Formats: sequence, structure tokens, C-alpha cells
Amino acid sequence: MPAIVLVGAQWGDEGKGKATDLMGSDVDYVVKFNGGNNAGHTIVIDGEKYALHLLPSGILTPTCTPVIGNGVVIDLAVLFEEIDGLEARGVDTSRLLVSANAHIIAPYNRVLDKVTERFLGSRKIGTTGRGIGPTYADKMSRTGIRVQDLFDEKILRQKVEAALEFKNQVLAKIYNRRAIEVDEVVEELLGYAARLRPMVADTSLVLEQALNEGRTVLMEAGQATLLDVDHGTYPFVTSSNATSGGACTGSGIPPTRIDRVIAILKAYSTRVGEGPFPTELHDDMGEFLRKTGAEYGTTTGRPRRCGWVDTVVGRYATRINGVTDFVITKLDVLTGLDKVPVCVAYDVDGVRHDEMPVNQTDFHHAVPVYEELDGWWEDISSCRTFEELPVNAQRYVLRVEELVGARVSAIGVGPGRDQIVSRHSLLGD
Ligand code: GDP
Ligand code: IMO
Ligand code: MG
Repeated sequence: MPAIVLVGAQWGDEGKGKATDLMGSDVDYVVKFNGGNNAGHTIVIDGEKYALHLLPSGILTPTCTPVIGNGVVIDLAVLFEEIDGLEARGVDTSRLLVSANAHIIAPYNRVLDKVTERFLGSRKIGTTGRGIGPTYADKMSRTGIRVQDLFDEKILRQKVEAALEFKNQVLAKIYNRRAIEVDEVVEELLGYAARLRPMVADTSLVLEQALNEGRTVLMEAGQATLLDVDHGTYPFVTSSNATSGGACTGSGIPPTRIDRVIAILKAYSTRVGEGPFPTELHDDMGEFLRKTGAEYGTTTGRPRRCGWVDTVVGRYATRINGVTDFVITKLDVLTGLDKVPVCVAYDVDGVRHDEMPVNQTDFHHAVPVYEELDGWWEDISSCRTFEELPVNAQRYVLRVEELVGARVSAIGVGPGRDQIVSRHSLLGD
């Protein structure tokens, strides 16, 4: 039965965690399929705030089995820290499954992420410094360490030795850092093996069986469409596939089983780190969105860059992900504006672009073409049906829906679990 993919439509932090949590008990498995602890999902339940980085958002729903898929990169210290933190707050994490094929963020990759960024200077990406890029680079270079390697000390040692032989040269000779000892790394990783072992499974097989039994499986992306390594604003991207295609490779669930793709679109835009952002605001309005929307990174605490909604980006997300349903989040943040600008196209050196420019240089030069919609002043945080929304808020949603080209099935009107306006079931109708 249903296999659903949930992705971010913009540059991350759209409210994916809340949307996943919202489907809660209707979903039997939530699979994280890409990224690692560069993600930060804030979920508010009964006024209590939970910040998740590595664990799938389904961990907060007692009937749901959270799965860390093969496409994820795992920092084991962070994994157990997060598990302990949730257990201390009374959340049962015992159902967690971890793919034997997921890659491990080794300590040297955390170091390399930070020193590389420093070395790049003004050309830096603005990464989260969690070792994500170097770990995916190792995966592609076939020098990575996988979860299953932790259970064979001889193999683990060989792999760490092979990796460090090269990396220590880079660390010492290029970055002037101390070399890292093989024993140090092997010991650290082996220290987690016993605790990890009971969670490790052939997750693709588990998920296939679950789907055959009619269970609902949700594949939840970290990051977002424009941070995708293939489809995003390269090189200002993360190092994994955060779009719906990545859900298949990162979980082992084939495309033929996917029924629905839900994209989360914030009612305005934000971005953390470097890279082009056509609708970015550098004025008081940007500050208004940052303050009202509490736009500070869950992972690094950095202030997020803010701007108006960009439906060229939204349309692109529809195309790349095959979006069937959108969830618009944080509509409440736009309350109290006279006019709400919606970017409908770009002007690039006098030429109108209705679709994402193919060339990155053009995207850097894109000047938004705005349509100004009338705003609303009423508090919408307790609205639960579309009809309860002020008519101008309804018009805003309908215009965005028209421009992005897929139906808007739910609208977030506050951070709380129940603060949602539902138009269509996200699970299928
Ligand atoms: P994610 O990375 O996509 O899961 O998103 P983050 O958790 O990093 O950022 C989204 C933030 O917006 C979180 O602090 C959520 O609690 C909050 N949030 C989600 N939906 C809404 C909404 O509809 N209204 C408001 N005001 N806040 C929301
Ligand atoms: P969630 O899942 C927003 C950004 C970083 C940087 C770039 C590369 O919460 O939406 P990385 O550490 O991944 O190599 O950094 O990607 N980035 C995110 N921005 N939300 C995220 O995750 C992000 N994960 C990475 O800021 O620009
Ligand atoms: Mg986030």
C-alpha cells in the first residue's frame, strides 16, 4: 500500500518535520533516506519542543517505526546523544532500525569539512561543518566506512588505514593539522558497535515486506530540492540527493512502489549558507520575516536569509520531484502585511524566464518579477478549515497553487501539531 515521499521544495527548513509528525499515527514507517545531522527538524507537541537531527521525525509517534536508510550518513556520537536525549524525555526509541549499508561519518571527515571551508575562504559553501560532504565523497570514491564494517574489526581497521593513508597527508601537508591515529578512530567506532548491533537490519527488505502487508511507508527527505547535489544550485548544495529520486536510492524502495510525493513549501523563502537566492530581502521586510518566523537554524543557530515566496522555484520542485501535493507552511507569518509579493518569473538581463534558468550564472543575475497580492490582518493561527481563512489568505494560497502547478492539500498556521488547515488527505484520496 502507500509509499509516500516527502521533500522540501526550497532550500530547507520548510517544516518537513512538522508535516511528517502531522501524519503521525497514520504512517507505520518513516524512513530518512539522505543527509545526516546537517538536518534540523523542530517539532512542537503540546507546547514541548523537540529538535531532531539524525533521527527520522516518526520517532515521536509511538506506533511508527523509524528507519535510517542506506542513503544516510551517520555520526554515531550524535545518534546516541539524540537517542539518550529523547529517552530522558520519555520517548521510546527502541523501534529504530538502521541500514547495514548506511555510511558512517568518521572523525576525520568532521575535521576535513571544517578545514576545507576555512581554506575556501570567500568561496566557502557555508556547510554545517558536520562532515557530510567529505563522507559522501568517500562513499563515491569507494573509501567510505559502512555500518556493517563495525562488526568486522579486521575489515574496519583496513578501511580506516586506507582512508587515513591519504587523508593524513592532506591534513598535515595542505592544512597543517595533526595527523589522525588509526587506533584512535577504530577504537572510537568500535565503542559504538555493541549498542548499534540490535538496530541494524536489511531495511530495504523490511520495507518491502511492510509494503506487501499493506503498511504505509513515508520517506522523509532532509534538506531540499535546491540543495540537491544534482538539481540544486550547485556547488551551493548539500552532498546528497534530497529530491524524490533520492528516496528510492536512499531507501531501497523502487520507483514503481511510490504513490505520492508531498512537497513542503514555506509561504516565504529562507536559505542558510552561501549561494544564489533571487527573492532575498536585505531590508526591514527580511528582518520582519526572520523575527516573526523565528528563522534561526535548528542545527547551527545561524540567522536564516529570508525573502518572498518564489513560485519559479516551486514550479521547478513540482517538475523535479513529481509533486502530487503541496503543504504550505508558516502562512501565519505573513499575517499583517498590506501587500504580499509573490515571485512569478525572473528577469535576467532583460529576458523573462518563467522556468529556472539552465545556467547558474543567469540564476545569480535573476531579478524577481513580482505579483503583489493583498494581505490580511486577522489572526489565522486557530483556523482549521480553508473557509475560515481570511479571503485574502485564501487568494494567496490559490494563486500559489496555480503557479506551482500541484494542489495545496494542507496549510500550516502555527508550529503546533494541530495548527493546520487541511484540504485533502495527505495519505491519498
Ligand atoms: P525542517 O527542517 O523542514 O523540518 O524545518 P525546521 O524545523 O528546520 O524549520 C521549520 C520551523 O517552523 C520549525 O521551528 C517549526 O516548528 C516551525 N513551523 C512549522 N510549521 C509552521 C507553521 O505553519 N507556522 C509557524 N509559525 N511555524 C511553523
Ligand atoms: P533541513 O533538513 C537548511 C545547507 C548548509 C549549506 C549547504 C551544505 O533542516 O531542511 P552541508 O553541511 O550539508 O554540507 O551544507 O546546505 N544545509 C541546510 N540548510 N536546512 C537543512 O536541513 C540543511 N542541511 C544543509 O547550510 O549551505
Ligand atoms: Mg531544518
